[in-house]
Amino acid sequence: MRRMRRLRRPGLREMVAETRLSLDDMIQPIFVDERLDVPMAIEAMPGQYRHSLESAVDEACTLDDLGVPAVILFGIPDHKDELGTGAYDEEGIVQRATARIKEACDLVVITDLCLCEYTSHGHCGLVSGEEVLNDQTLPLLGEAAVSQARAGADVVAPSGMMDHMVIAIRGALDLEGFGDTPILSYAAKYASTFYGPFREAAESGYAFGDRRTYQMDPPNLAEALWEVQLDIEEGADMVMVKPAMPYLDVLRAVKDTFGMPTAAYQVSGEYSMIMAAAERGWIDGERAMIEALTCIKRAGADMILTYYAKEYAKRVM
Ligand code: PBG
Repeated sequence: MRRMRRLRRPGLREMVAETRLSLDDMIQPIFVDERLDVPMAIEAMPGQYRHSLESAVDEACTLDDLGVPAVILFGIPDHKDELGTGAYDEEGIVQRATARIKEACDLVVITDLCLCEYTSHGHCGLVSGEEVLNDQTLPLLGEAAVSQARAGADVVAPSGMMDHMVIAIRGALDLEGFGDTPILSYAAKYASTFYGPFREAAESGYAFGDRRTYQMDPPNLAEALWEVQLDIEEGADMVMVKPAMPYLDVLRAVKDTFGMPTAAYQVSGEYSMIMAAAERGWIDGERAMIEALTCIKRAGADMILTYYAKEYAKRVM
């Protein structure tokens, strides 16, 4: 009779492992704050920083040396306004950071593409009263994409969950000669409370309401497949499910249904929960990191956006 325990001994166990983590799949988020001269620790995310332009470049090069293949950049501008102009300013913080990083080292630079860090009200689109406007936002996203591509971004990653954002961005990029710049769409992005610490990190809290009129409702799975399908039809090259761990069923369904290059974003709250419990000695932080990342991969992620990329890289060095 087959006895399942035979293969669970050290040595054999590793050989029959069905899923293997690889640094090649990991993408480290970097926050770059236009107002800073030195990095500032993010309290709710131990080990993570808001960087100055200079320290962001240094950090990217350190990650490159450690073998981390890619970063995703989030910008915090020195001033925010109603129109989120910092997002599509050719001299904006993400545009400058992208250009500097591409000059200094050669990892893949992905740029988060959204208005929320740049708008005074903190929403991912233009607003009228308390309504977040969809179609009026699209040309601005197109402009932001072009400015990021011009700065040297290897991939643009729209995260605002506006309908038709992908086709608008694809059109704008193609028109300006960036037909080869891929789009990683935050296709199935849920209105999640697990983004809490990110709002401290990127100062992107909102002045009124919440994001539930544009981000997805957590109970929904069929809707996620529609979101992903529409983004693929509009021209997305890669799709993302976000957050990761509470949404592994969505990740599996997206990967199986479309077979697209699929990313999962292990978000700020997922990181903070592990770090906080580990700090208290309630769980083993290192093993929790490995287990969480392995399970995300097992559920179908080809790429993982994770605040642990650097930590993982150090571990496998
Ligand atoms: C902005 C954006 C958010 C995150 C990534 N891009 C915040 C939000 O939608 O409220 C969250 C990332 C994280 O929590 O780590 N559109």
